[in-house]
Amino acid sequence: MTETDRKRLHVITWGCQMNVYDSGRMADVLAPLGYAPAAEPDGADMVILNTCHIRDKAAEKVFSELGRLRRMKEATGNCMILAVAGCVAQAEGAEILARAPYVDIVLGPQTYHRLPEMVARASRAGNKVIETDFPPEDKFDHLPESATPQGVTAFLTIQEGCDKFCSFCVVPYTRGAEQSRSAATILREARHLTAQGAREITLLGQNVNAWHGEAPDGTTWGLGRLLRELADVPGLLRLRYATSHPRDMDDDLIAAHRDVPTLMPFLHLPIQSGSDRMLAAMNRKHTADDYRRIIDRLGDARPDLALSTDFIVGHPGETEADFEATMTLVRDVTFALAYSFKYSPRPGTPAAGAPAQVAEADKDRRLQALQALLREQQTEFAAGCVGLDLPVLFTGPGRHPGQIAGRSPFLHPVHVSGSADLIGTESIVRIVANYPNSLAGTLVQERRIA
Ligand code: 5AD
Ligand code: SF4
Repeated sequence: MTETDRKRLHVITWGCQMNVYDSGRMADVLAPLGYAPAAEPDGADMVILNTCHIRDKAAEKVFSELGRLRRMKEATGNCMILAVAGCVAQAEGAEILARAPYVDIVLGPQTYHRLPEMVARASRAGNKVIETDFPPEDKFDHLPESATPQGVTAFLTIQEGCDKFCSFCVVPYTRGAEQSRSAATILREARHLTAQGAREITLLGQNVNAWHGEAPDGTTWGLGRLLRELADVPGLLRLRYATSHPRDMDDDLIAAHRDVPTLMPFLHLPIQSGSDRMLAAMNRKHTADDYRRIIDRLGDARPDLALSTDFIVGHPGETEADFEATMTLVRDVTFALAYSFKYSPRPGTPAAGAPAQVAEADKDRRLQALQALLREQQTEFAAGCVGLDLPVLFTGPGRHPGQIAGRSPFLHPVHVSGSADLIGTESIVRIVANYPNSLAGTLVQERRIA
């Protein structure tokens, strides 16, 4: 490739871990065309805005960012190719080109393997490209192996889409129906990631524990079996998966938490509400007690398992009593980490049209009360780690010279004094202090498992 063929690509990523993964894969698809990563959008030959539609004023945020990118595009003499990808692109489609005619490409999450062809079409002056259909072919069959290592910790999408149709959620509409990749392609990608230096892999899916993929022998495996197979991938020290639905925590998956030591004792299992009335209104298809029973069984399988979850406050119809049921559930279960959100109406979802919308002030008050309780529990959990010897996977340099940073089994960032050659290995660290968003420790034993 000559200097003149080299082009600079900047990808802006909003939203979930799957978008982070997708952004990496979009860069992989464009690499053979000469696109190399650019740290800034200014002066880039192509900018992709990979968007999220899950909450808030998603579309408004996109148009305001596009306004900023428009000026940068004009500064390049309009040579910059501007693409909008992800879930807002999927949901808004042609509306994006109508409101921002300087955008060249609008593409949904299922079509980015076709980016080279879209770029070729968009490069012909004046051409606009919209690709938001769900194509018949599987994009994963058309993506090249990633040439750019993700690092010590890596994401691997194994499942996409969702058939659950929770009342509030836009995902089944933007990401489409549930689809599982085959076990063989997942195992191949995992081996490729570890060969590139990954030591921890997080399996991703909108409903990751609904994964049921074709096995090499033609049968169908569930996630429990896949985790057992992945545990044998050379070089892999840690496995995680996110995000799960309580309905899909089957017996074999729970048993995998007992049997697979590389599966980290930390699980993100959204519940959304502690009120059965709200769970029914949300179409979650489980009760608060179902959830409690599942985590009891998980705790029996893996006694050191810590939990993380998601909550929505102010879903249509939520009363003070419903909210109190959520607070009670939090007090009973206790979470090491949790994300909580005010209900945000998503166009086209059943809850958006429900009559009993909750007043903004009530949502605010409930969110504050819930977050205060969750913060307390999060701090208490981190404080409980002080004095423990925990395995820490070192992922990179620390903030200060002579420091390295890693991750606890429970996803806390951990800082210790240590040599940079420990990066990519797991060592035992005595935790000596907890800070609001991290832990500090000292090396006890360099296991140097690489
Ligand atoms: N409003 C607020 N929160 C939402 N989530 C999904 N849709 C909405 C919405 N419309 C939250 C849920 C989900 C997390 C990814 O985002 O808690 O688990
Ligand atoms: Fe959305 Fe998750 Fe419900 Fe699927 S299971 S509809 S992704 S909240």
